[in-house]
Amino acid sequence: MIHRPRRLRKNSIVRDMVAEVRFNRDMLIYPYFIEKGKNIISPISAMPGINHFSTDTLVKDVEKGLKKGINKILLFGGGEAKSAEGKSAYKKDTVVADAIKLLKKNFKDDIYIITDVCLCAYTDHGHCGIIKDGHVHNDSSVEAIAKMALTHAEAGADMVAPSDMMDGRVGAIRSLLDDKGFEETAIMSYSIKFASSYYGPFREAADSAPQFGDRKSYQMDFRNPDEAMKEAWLDESEGADVLMVKPALAYLDIITHLRANTHLPVACYNVSGEYSMVKAAAAKGWIDEKSVVMENMHAFARAGCNLIITYHARDIVEKGW
Ligand code: PBG
Ligand code: ZN
Repeated sequence: MIHRPRRLRKNSIVRDMVAEVRFNRDMLIYPYFIEKGKNIISPISAMPGINHFSTDTLVKDVEKGLKKGINKILLFGGGEAKSAEGKSAYKKDTVVADAIKLLKKNFKDDIYIITDVCLCAYTDHGHCGIIKDGHVHNDSSVEAIAKMALTHAEAGADMVAPSDMMDGRVGAIRSLLDDKGFEETAIMSYSIKFASSYYGPFREAADSAPQFGDRKSYQMDFRNPDEAMKEAWLDESEGADVLMVKPALAYLDIITHLRANTHLPVACYNVSGEYSMVKAAAAKGWIDEKSVVMENMHAFARAGCNLIITYHARDIVEKGW
């Protein structure tokens, strides 16, 4: 026998030596849910290990994470007044804006702050845009979304991440930010965001489930890999700095295809439902959590991701997985 692949699997030294894909913690971005109030750490039942924080407890938790090397976070806000047009999303003193200011005051540029930009936690109907004539109206939604991004930039966000899937929002955000002197604020676009049932636990956490209909008129149809590349190309041409695929596990083919078709960094969002499935099976003793999580992280890296947004990030660094 000439070829014996097992020679290079003999022990962990040689296996580590020939490993083709390496995962490291610099790739990780950790999401946070922030709400109004003080001294709040309230568990999200469908996402074991993930909590809602008020800004004061957030600062303490971020400090803990920073010590372990979690220095990139993604902020989600909520708890503001909900209205048809989601106007509270772009108030100057949303809980997200307050959190950004407080974190930057405490940690300066030791923490890299990314903010989710979308209206669904601020509209009373729970859609990601403004409703006109019974449907989600693109251009007025884009205007509101760009204003929201601006308030985050003004508060000191390093990067804004629009997750609404309206057409043209990356370009609108880029030009508003540039007009107002925030040309250094980066944009990570949720470029290829599929209408997915894996967002269920998140919608409970963010109180952002649509009150009627679904998100299929703006989020992508999971049957369409070519259209996915078109979405990514549009965002790239509108000035996105990072492109994201979401969800991650069920869309590894899309990640690989995107990696081959862009010069930008590619991020994936390992979403709430993907996290909760692992947690639930692990709690039942049906899978080994650490091994499954690290297998998934390597799958993202192998597929071509440069960045991984995941609720598992804290376990990975704190437990030294
Ligand atoms: C809001 C938003 C969602 C997620 C991130 N931003 C939910 C949705 O679009 O319904 C999902 C995150 C997750 O499931 O972890 N537009
Ligand atoms: Zn939304």
